[in-house]
Order: sequence, then structure tokens, then C-alpha cells
Amino acid sequence: MTTTRVGIFGAGYIASVHADILSRDDRVELVGVADMLEANAARLADQIGGAQTGATLEDLFRMDVDTIYVTTPNTTHVAPVVACLNEGLNVFCEKPMATDLAGGERIRKAALASRGVYNLGMNRRYAYTHDKLKALIDAGDLEPYNAQFKLNRGELLQPAWTADPSKTGGFLYETTIHQIDLLQYLFGPIATLRCAARRAISSAEFDDFSMLFTFESGTIATLSSSAHSGWSFPFERVEIYGRYATAATEELERVRYALDLEQVVRTEDYTHIPFAEKGGYAKEDRLFIDALHNGGRPPVDVDEASALNLLLAAIYESAREHREIDFAARVREAIG
Ligand SMILES: NC(=O)c1ccc[n+]([C@@H]2O[C@H](COP(=O)([O-])OP(=O)(O)OC[C@H]3O[C@@H](n4cnc5c(N)ncnc54)[C@H](O)[C@@H]3O)[C@@H](O)[C@H]2O)c1
Repeated sequence: MTTTRVGIFGAGYIASVHADILSRDDRVELVGVADMLEANAARLADQIGGAQTGATLEDLFRMDVDTIYVTTPNTTHVAPVVACLNEGLNVFCEKPMATDLAGGERIRKAALASRGVYNLGMNRRYAYTHDKLKALIDAGDLEPYNAQFKLNRGELLQPAWTADPSKTGGFLYETTIHQIDLLQYLFGPIATLRCAARRAISSAEFDDFSMLFTFESGTIATLSSSAHSGWSFPFERVEIYGRYATAATEELERVRYALDLEQVVRTEDYTHIPFAEKGGYAKEDRLFIDALHNGGRPPVDVDEASALNLLLAAIYESAREHREIDFAARVREAIG
């Protein structure tokens, strides 16, 4: 079996989560780590028991890698991803794909022209809680008529860059993107959307959002997201309502569901599952490496990533312009 020779670009928090997972996959060789702060690259190389280190993407290219994980901050994803694809390398890039439409389009064009595989890291899809919801829906046990989503953050004070949209792209790109991605993953294509937003604490950006979505399947859903709710639970929750049925998540820890009247209410509790597993990181990495080895589709390919990038831009547009958006028409125009 040929091994996938991986380089990691950006050696901070999330890089260490992926490096830990990949170091346990026999199909992967972690060849090198690069970071503009070479001390960070050295620390991560030590954590995985040794790898070459460098400061730039070109340093990784010289290490003869075939796949690169781009794990630098949000607004620095586009240039390295495009450079990797132009080199014919496979790329796993952490969320977000880009923080504007032009960046997403540059990646899409580069991916379509490359022999490399592009994948966007959207781990929340594979969190145990959401895997369970998806399984209930796919099996036909729960037909989603209506749903209510929420994803909050405690504050945008620590670290200070979280309040700076030039670093994050905006709160939706930093945090709420996870729940926004789940919408189409669970319910299929969105038909229309509307978003109301306000600058409650931040003067630099919208920090409170209420959104309403309709889906081509007929499902309707709302999503609420606040950037400054304090650190008391609950932060994230999905509630799906079907025919005399409800399934509800509690953080990434539990799912509670009842599928009909006069039936037992069941709870699955993932408290004891290690974070990288229950958070979906291990599965997204496994699916990505599977795709490289078996030649199938990666878990979040460039079409899905582009649709998500369009969706975030459309939500902000709706908030700014106070109007409903025909999102299905947008996707047809941009992706076909
Ligand atoms: N999926 C998730 O649950 C999840 C969780 C955390 C972070 N993330 C995403 O991962 C990315 C990184 O976040 P993080 O929390 O690991 O950040 P971090 O600050 O811990 O690490 C970023 C690293 O990138 C390096 N870096 C920054 N600019 C660089 C450049 N131009 N060239 C080379 N190195 C550079 C920094 O020195 C740092 O070591 C972000 O896009 C974030 O949205 C995803």
C-alpha cells in the first residue's frame, strides 16, 4: 500500500488535533510541518514524534509531500490552497473555504483544473450527535418537517482577534459556519433564506443573527446565533420535528429522540467518547484519506464547499439588505 505523504501548513491548535489523528493512521506518513513561527512547527513536529520543519509552503513542497493540510487562520486559506492545487497536490483545508465569493471562486477554478483532490474540513457533520440525526433521517425514521438550530459563542474578547473581521471574515465564518453547513447536509438544497442581524456589542460586525430557511424538500428551519452569550450552556443545539416526533441534540454530548406517540424516548450519551471522535474530526480525516486511497469523493468536495461559501455570503447579503434571497437560483447560476 502506498502511503499518503502529508505536510501541515499552520501548526496551531487544530493542526495538533489533525496531526494526532493522522499519526494513528497506517496509511499516512506525516512528513513535514511548516509555520511562519518556526517554534510552533518544531513543537508540533515533536508532538508527533518527529517530522521535518519549515516556515513556508514552498518548504513543504520541497519535502516531496502529496497532500497538505492548510490550518492557518480563516482569511489566509485561499492563497496556499490555490498554490497547492496548482502544484497538483491534494488539500484538506480547515473551515472556512474562503471569506468572500472571489476567494471561493479562485479555489473552485484551481480545484477543477487540478489533479489534486480538494476537501473542506467541516467536522461537525460527523459529530456523533449529528451522525445520529443524519442516520434517523436517511433511514426514514424521522421526516424533518421543521427544525430549530442554534450556535452561540460566549464572547469575542479572548483571544482579541476573534473580534476582528479582517482576521475571522466575520462571526458567521468563524463559528456559526458549522451549523450553517448542517442545514443542507441534513435537509438537502435550500430554496430561500432570510436573515435579520444586528450589531449588539461589536461596532465592527454583526454579532446577533436570526435566520429563516425554506428547503426544496419542504422542510422549514430557523437558526439563531449570538457571539456574546457568556459561557453558560446551552451553546449549540439542533431540534428536528417530524410526525409526532422530535430529535434534539444537547451540545456534542447527547441526542434525545422520540419517533412517535406512545413510544419510548431514547437518549444516546457520548460523554465518555474522546473529543476527536465525538467531535467528528477523526471521521472527517478518515473519509478524506479513504477518498485519496480509493479514488472516491472526499467528504466535502469543492462543489459542496462552494455552495456553503455562497450560502454564507447570501446570509450576510440578506442581513445587510433586509430581504429574502432566492438561494436555489444563486446556486444554479454559480455552480450549475
Ligand atoms: N473545525 C474546527 O472545529 C476548528 C476548530 C478550531 C480552528 N479551526 C480552524 O482552523 C484554522 C486555524 O485555527 P487555530 O485555532 O488552529 O489557530 P491557531 O492560531 O492556533 O494556529 C494557526 C497557526 O497558523 C500559523 N500561521 C498564521 N498565518 C500563517 C501564514 N501566513 N503562514 C504560515 N503559518 C501561519 C500561526 O503561527 C499558528 O501557529 C482556522 O481557519 C479555524 O477556523 C477549526
